[in-house]
Amino acid sequence: MEVVIVPDAQAGGEVIAEAMVALLRRKPDALLGVATGSTPLPVYQALTAKVGAGAVDAGRARICQLDEYVGLPAGHPESYRSVVLREVVEPLGLDQASFMGPNGSADDIPAACVAYDRALTEAGGVDLQLLGIGTDGHIGFNEPCSSLASRTRIKTLTEQTRIDNARFFDGDIDQVPHHVITQGIGTILEARHVVLLATGEGKAEAVAQTVEGPVSALVPASALQLHPHATVVVDEAAAAKLKLADYFRATFAAKPEWQGL
Ligand code: F6R
Repeated sequence: MEVVIVPDAQAGGEVIAEAMVALLRRKPDALLGVATGSTPLPVYQALTAKVGAGAVDAGRARICQLDEYVGLPAGHPESYRSVVLREVVEPLGLDQASFMGPNGSADDIPAACVAYDRALTEAGGVDLQLLGIGTDGHIGFNEPCSSLASRTRIKTLTEQTRIDNARFFDGDIDQVPHHVITQGIGTILEARHVVLLATGEGKAEAVAQTVEGPVSALVPASALQLHPHATVVVDEAAAAKLKLADYFRATFAAKPEWQGL
């Protein structure tokens, strides 16, 4: 696992967007897995700016969702489909045909989960999966004690995650759905490159446990230690509890530029 410590969230967005640009140059129809929430927004802004400035032609890029609320009406502004369309697909000038996600309004949710997991494989697999991290160490919505081998399925959000996400629902926890469809940890680990971005002191404990703690279902993000190409990008605040911070800084400073992330 590579840990990259950046000064702030904007710098984190830059470094990850640059990796996405490099990927799209190598593979113009790459499948980019995107997360929602506050953390990845600087990535999407930086990527949009780079594409707008002509750094790469993103016209053939494909986008896929990590997770989705269950039961929000179609077109709800906080459904993750709406968020990804608004923050990623439309700014990049992509059409909806290049975008895939799980159907959180399906009558048969288990079937929708299986169908989405299969669709990711049939699309050739995710080339780069961007992740945030919950204060409880969740990735996607794999809450603590999720199976490290899990596939896309329905999960119940913890009370803490619903409290954390109430800010997207006028601060009203009662509006935050209890259930989500999320790519499983096993599904996420199949992406060719997994990039986790964490910013702010509220994430420092989860980051330290993810990177320096044992692999444990109690901290779902720690499963990334098992991935051959996992990159954790953290700002100084989120890096505050890393014992090996100086080592991570020195390693990244000495990294040959051609290697990218
Ligand atoms: C969202 C997702 C979640 C968030 C996490 C952090 O698609 O999968 O794991 O990444 O809850 O959310 P923020 O970035 O809002 O702190």
